[in-house]
Amino acid sequence: MSTRPIVIKIGGAAGVDLENVCADVVELIRRGERVVVVNGGSDAGERLLKALSLERPEVRTASGNVVRLTHADTLRVLTMAWVGDVNKRAVLALLARGVPAIGLCGADGRVLLARRRPPLKIRDGERTRIDREHLAGELTEVNTRLLGLLLDEGQVPVLCPPAVTADGTLVNVDADQAAAAVATALGARVLVMLSNVPGLMEDPKNPATLVRRSEDVEGCMGFAAGRMRYKLEAARRALAGGVSAVYVSASHAARPVFTALDEEAGTKFTLPEGKVTHAAS
Ligand SMILES: Nc1ncnc2c1ncn2[C@@H]1O[C@H](COP(=O)(O)OP(=O)(O)OP(=O)(O)O)[C@@H](O)[C@H]1O
Ligand SMILES: [Mg+2]
Repeated sequence: MSTRPIVIKIGGAAGVDLENVCADVVELIRRGERVVVVNGGSDAGERLLKALSLERPEVRTASGNVVRLTHADTLRVLTMAWVGDVNKRAVLALLARGVPAIGLCGADGRVLLARRRPPLKIRDGERTRIDREHLAGELTEVNTRLLGLLLDEGQVPVLCPPAVTADGTLVNVDADQAAAAVATALGARVLVMLSNVPGLMEDPKNPATLVRRSEDVEGCMGFAAGRMRYKLEAARRALAGGVSAVYVSASHAARPVFTALDEEAGTKFTLPEGKVTHAAS
């Protein structure tokens, strides 16, 4: 059996040092690891929308959550940024260091298959309206066969949202969730998520409150706001899916992947001892 891969998620938040993370991916490859990269692209996406004077309205759903609506026109632009800009930058950063890489969004080879989320009930003042156009997805399947072929060929797959539905519609999915789904589906050893923060902090404004280790992702939810909640949910899913450890750390630190893996930086999430699940062999 081939070695279990490592999944590296390169955050798409403002200030993430993509080149720095790719340098560590190259080192992992040199050490004989099988690596799958997943990139986000929130900052590049929002910037391109702004440059084109397009907006994604923030709405409150009937269940009380605040979400950003993604419609066909905005998803098209977000896809340009995620795939055309960030994903290709990651591929080029690996190629420039002599490592063969192939960039795929969820639609390419149906690598990230999703179910379209149902129409959204939106609270509009006193009234409720239904948005049938929003294009959000829930990941259902990862094309592990394709990823296995690419890994066997010595390629580093670099994956990114959007995902695709069975009938060929692009849908928005969170990149952290995608990374967790890929890690689980591939039976990855570990998932390392590099972002623009040192890790999970009890007080997001104070790096001294960095959580170094936790066996209780759910218990940490209270510290997380905004998109960090998606990241923790992704960590929870990956651990439940058999990934041994999930690391959240800063992309700009020296040797960001290795310092996270060596527990010299960032937050390490594991399941409590005795609660460890095992990936299907
Ligand atoms: N307790 C917390 N500790 C650390 N960061 C937090 C916390 N609560 C909220 N955050 C926010 O979470 C953000 C990281 O999540 P975000 O999804 O924006 O980054 P990313 O995953 O790197 O980007 P993308 O989703 O585009 O790949 C940080 O920039 C920070 O503002
Ligand atoms: Mg994120």
